[in-house]
Amino acid sequence: MKFVTSQTEIEKIKTDALVVLTSKTLNKSIKHIDKNLNGVITKMIQDGDFSGKNISTCVVRNASKNIKRLILVGKEDGSSIQDRIKLIELGASNILKSYIANAHWVIDDTYEAWEIEIISRSILKINYSFKGNSKSSLSKLDLVCLNSHSLSNTETCTKYGEAVGRGMNLCRHLGNTPANICTPTFLAEKAKSLSDENTCIKTTILGESEMKDLGMLSLLSVGNASAQPSKLIVMEYNGSKTMQQPIALVGKAVTFDTGGISLKPGRGMDEMKFDMCGGASVLGVMSALSEAALDINVVGLIPAVENMPSGNATKPGDVIKSMSGITIEILNTDAEGRLILCDALTYANRFKPKYVVDIATLTGAVIGALGKFTTGMLSNSEELAEILVNCGNSSGDRVWQLPLWKEYDQQLKSNFADLANIGGEAGTITAGCFLSRFTKDYKWAHLDIAGTAWISGKNKGATGRPVPLLMEFLRSQVN
Ligand code: BES
Ligand code: MN
Ligand code: ZN
Repeated sequence: MKFVTSQTEIEKIKTDALVVLTSKTLNKSIKHIDKNLNGVITKMIQDGDFSGKNISTCVVRNASKNIKRLILVGKEDGSSIQDRIKLIELGASNILKSYIANAHWVIDDTYEAWEIEIISRSILKINYSFKGNSKSSLSKLDLVCLNSHSLSNTETCTKYGEAVGRGMNLCRHLGNTPANICTPTFLAEKAKSLSDENTCIKTTILGESEMKDLGMLSLLSVGNASAQPSKLIVMEYNGSKTMQQPIALVGKAVTFDTGGISLKPGRGMDEMKFDMCGGASVLGVMSALSEAALDINVVGLIPAVENMPSGNATKPGDVIKSMSGITIEILNTDAEGRLILCDALTYANRFKPKYVVDIATLTGAVIGALGKFTTGMLSNSEELAEILVNCGNSSGDRVWQLPLWKEYDQQLKSNFADLANIGGEAGTITAGCFLSRFTKDYKWAHLDIAGTAWISGKNKGATGRPVPLLMEFLRSQVN
């Protein structure tokens, strides 16, 4: 799949498909296209085949001798970002579903830069398939800019969208890979191969004995019962020429979450292979960062474990000591994500990070609160929280903040340790409170992606979220 940008005049375009987004009132450049196609757009509107309303669509076969298909997608003025993304995705899926080798997409003056980024990102996203039987025959998409949209700007946007799209697909692919293949060792190998391919990434893997020496007994307690050795994957992306404080991303990677001794019910347990999607999103971001060559320093930390029951499994009531020195009473072995994150969050200190963001499929409760649309966020910094909310809005990969008030934190009291690993109600918030005990030394935000990292049902699969959000955030931090 190749993306090119051009300023080809409509008269000279010869293509399998021409994509035009428009409302029913044609602007100057679309009028010009309409005229060139003998008024076919006007006619489709007049005859009621195309309404121009958001998310309406219509395909005209043989719109002209050179244009085998005209794909119209409705785009009303003043539509929301979320709607504008949806209709770009509709245009993209229209291209991908027919037998089309090359296509042209008209970029008129109404496009904002971020919308151009969404085109290549959507094409890549929609064209992904786990089994590799790629649905489409598209080999080239030409983004045709009309009027004032400079070619180089369109090219920059397209490249950025490609980087994000491929980063999302890497994240999805790792998420979809079954847990008998996608083990902590497999993720570590993947991280190493990313640094082999990109000189700006350095990968270090900490094994169990190194983690034990560092006192990461909380992390290790989760993988205790697994035949798969636990790993802490450390990736350093050095894209900045100056000595810049890095941003740390910490991604939960439980390659399979049975719940441990607090065993989960059988129904739907297969979906717990997605419990490493936080870590996968960090790998996706690392790859996208190097492709987009962002001028920034980022540390990716991925605690990777498998949560299993067995004779040497951690039991409810066990007390362990974390790397920070804080002792934890493990009342539920299924609340394991926080146990691996807390040690990784303590380890993050050594990089003197400007901000730390952790990403985790942490609680089923976040789905009750926000459904499958929105990532839950908790933060100890209003400044960082605001940046993330804004980046969520502008990337279409949205987050919503929940409070970290002390009433919730008090629910984590234990008679036998400094802290219990579960609280009472409001599970997403108490999980955030638990993590906040380990993040006192820097500005931190926690993203609970249990609702957004994958979808269930007939289209079951990882979504690649929140790679777009994280990339938007990191780009906003380039100075
Ligand atoms: N990985 C799960 C969270 C999860 C559950 C994500 C269902 C998506 C769907 C996490 O490790 C977990 O088991 N959390 C428990 C916490 C509870 C024991 C306090 C949960 O949400 O039930
Ligand atoms: Mn669990
Ligand atoms: Zn889990």
